[in-house]
Amino acid sequence: MYSMFTTFVLMLLSLVSAAPLNTPRDVWTPTITSPTAETVWTVGQTVEVTWSTADAPENVSNGGRVVLGKNNLLTSNVLVDSFVLKDADGSITVTVPEVEAGDDYFIVLFGDSGNWSDNFTIQA
Ligand SMILES: *[C@@H]1O[C@H](CO)[C@@H](O)[C@H](O)[C@H]1NC(C)=O
Ligand SMILES: *[C@@H]1O[C@H](CO)[C@@H](O)[C@H](O)[C@H]1NC(C)=O
Ligand SMILES: *[C@@H]1O[C@H](CO)[C@@H](O)[C@H](O)[C@H]1NC(C)=O
Repeated sequence: MYSMFTTFVLMLLSLVSAAPLNTPRDVWTPTITSPTAETVWTVGQTVEVTWSTADAPENVSNGGRVVLGKNNLLTSNVLVDSFVLKDADGSITVTVPEVEAGDDYFIVLFGDSGNWSDNFTIQA
């Protein structure tokens, strides 16, 4: 199951990195600092997704995107469709979508590359 998920994510990542680019860029995989395993989001709530910028390269690519996943699979819930990763400076505000309660949610932060969070809880 885990390797299926990994394959799926790698597939998505290669789609992302295949996007045409005008400027040279570095590959950067941000470490997500929130949500963590202790995080509980409530449907409709405004929450912050945060990541570490400590290891950000000088030229961070243009596009950032945050997608919600559940039980090892990405969902169609795109929390933030497109933002400038560098300008976001380590955090972006999202609204928790109307999804069923569960403790197996995670988010994937796409940039030059992507990284996913721990599983966390969303409650009704
Ligand atoms: C992804 O995030 C984890 C922590 O959540 C971090 O340890 C890791 O270095 C990051 N990058 C990659 C490529 O996994
Ligand atoms: C960052 O981008 C600027 C302007 O596009 C360029 O001059 C510079 O060499 C780049 N730096 C790196 C480390 O790629
Ligand atoms: C998240 O939960 C799934 C089961 O729903 C599990 O397979 C996966 O390994 C967990 N991920 C992490 C990062 O703990």
